[in-house]
Amino acid sequence: MTYRIAPSILSADFARLGDEVTQVIAAGADWIHFDVMDNHYVPNLTFGPMVCQAIKPYAKRVDGSPIPVDVHLMVQPVDALAAAFAQAGADYISFHPEASDHVHRSVQAIKAHGVKAGLVLNPATPLSMLDWVLDDLDLVLIMSVNPGFGGQSFIDAALRKIEQVRRLIDASGKDIRLEVDGGIKVDNIRRVADAGADTFVAGSAIFGKPDYRAVVQSMREALAT
Ligand code: DX5
Ligand code: ZN
Repeated sequence: MTYRIAPSILSADFARLGDEVTQVIAAGADWIHFDVMDNHYVPNLTFGPMVCQAIKPYAKRVDGSPIPVDVHLMVQPVDALAAAFAQAGADYISFHPEASDHVHRSVQAIKAHGVKAGLVLNPATPLSMLDWVLDDLDLVLIMSVNPGFGGQSFIDAALRKIEQVRRLIDASGKDIRLEVDGGIKVDNIRRVADAGADTFVAGSAIFGKPDYRAVVQSMREALAT
């Protein structure tokens, strides 16, 4: 299993965002997770496509190889902003099915831009949302907190849900990432991996500590045991 650690820049210093992205990639980040909140679908407001475009040149390793920009849309409606983020350099765009009137259409519209598409399931969202669309997805993102804020506690029921999504993905035979978002720390990442996740969002656990590299390394060690 290849595990990916996706630091959420929601908890970064917004006044130094490019440098924060550079630092967290140097610390070993695999993806950059970009949380877009609209003060409508969720009660918080973050950043838009112009900020995504501005950080895109920083999303690379020292050797110049690109790091995926993983855009998590917590916005309603979805399609116009998804198109704007595709233009702004997003590599993955994920959205919440409750925020789109036509989930299948939104997935196809994202993919038509050459961007990978993900569907995000809130803690109370049933897995039946994946019926009829899973085969078209590149990513399923399971929320282990309610969307809107960093620094919340991991909801343990998400572990059972991750196990069930892992079975659905394996049965599909498709190459689909299973990402988990919210409350992930060094001391619970192993349990999340054991449930079947392969991609881990972590905001406050990484940016809340002075030494990003130490946290990312501790997460990798926990995943390797
Ligand atoms: C919450 C966001 C998360 C957030 C996670 O709505 O989707 O990506 O940054 O933050 P932590 O890791 O602090 O729970
Ligand atoms: Zn997120």
